Amino acid sequence: MNKIYNFSAGPAVLPRAVLERAQAEMLDWHGSGMSVMEMSHRGKEFTGILNKAETDLRTLLNIPQNYKVLFLQGGAIAENAVIPMNLLGAGEADYVVTGAWSKRSVQDARAYGKINVVASSEAENFTDVPAFDCWKLNQNAAYLHICTNETINGVEFDGLPDAGNVPIVADMSSHILSRPIDVTKYGVIYGGAQKNIGPAGLCIVIVREDLLDRALPITPAVFNWKMQSENQSMINTPPTYSIYIAGLVFEWLLSLGGVEAIEQVNIKKASLLYDYIDGTDFYINKVAVKNRSRMNIPFFLKDESLNDAFLKGAEAQGLLQLKGHRMVGGMRASIYNAMPIEGVEALVNYMKQFEKAH
Ligand SMILES: Cc1ncc(COP(=O)(O)O)c(C=O)c1O
Repeated sequence: MNKIYNFSAGPAVLPRAVLERAQAEMLDWHGSGMSVMEMSHRGKEFTGILNKAETDLRTLLNIPQNYKVLFLQGGAIAENAVIPMNLLGAGEADYVVTGAWSKRSVQDARAYGKINVVASSEAENFTDVPAFDCWKLNQNAAYLHICTNETINGVEFDGLPDAGNVPIVADMSSHILSRPIDVTKYGVIYGGAQKNIGPAGLCIVIVREDLLDRALPITPAVFNWKMQSENQSMINTPPTYSIYIAGLVFEWLLSLGGVEAIEQVNIKKASLLYDYIDGTDFYINKVAVKNRSRMNIPFFLKDESLNDAFLKGAEAQGLLQLKGHRMVGGMRASIYNAMPIEGVEALVNYMKQFEKAH
């Protein structure tokens, strides 16, 4: 097999060491004679896997005891509905729109009550996060929703606003575990797994305990955070294999030195690419420097008629899935935790070659 680097936005590259371990354990997990896929979710083997995954995630993100960790299904898009069902009550909620994903969150939440868009960068084509002092926050909002890394637009928050007593609910799907965060600043953190955590099918929700009592009566049991937390995320059969792989990814991250260590690597990788793009007018990134994502880097060729040639040449060199999202166009390199720095170096070398040739 030729060496390839996979720049997909998700499902995305997983650490090689994790895949190799999963391969070695595929048919017989720790002498059980079973694959993890074949185990009862309530058996002692899988319960051990789930508990270890939760403990390691708590260590990685320094999650306090008064937060519950839920391993759910339905992805981050289901949470767009699950969040208002669990938190909105008869009140209103504030949303900030900084890209395609937070825009979608607003659209989905509107079915459940009054949603106020208190700041938006849509007029700037989602190229920054509006200055916090311009946000028209409501002190009596049930919660404030943000997406701290916009996967499609490549926009990442460079801090957090002061929301007073209003709980901040953050979609961190595409940068969770890429940098340290202060969990206590949030009411809820959630994310689909298929970028920095593991395979698709798993959605992680980290929720402060005092927010568990607010669900609308219509909330189905599987989407009711309190019921799920009282049932170890097992109201329905959880995505056992995805949880197992997520657990291996957490172990891998811990072995590297945790999120503090991976952040340093992520800074290096992102700088390599942004510095090169900024040093030439052949390629363009339109995002405000302070809000450039370390994980998802959209870029454009100045001469867009070369797009197909760029992608074809990249593929020939094993640089895969660089086509930008259809909403944005151009190219996008997603360089999650599992992308080695050699992958970014190979991409930059290819970009240089291509520039020279054209
Ligand atoms: C920031 C963000 N939010 C939400 C989603 C939707 O996730 P899912 O398809 O798992 O529901 C994605 C997926 O790419 C995302 O990047």
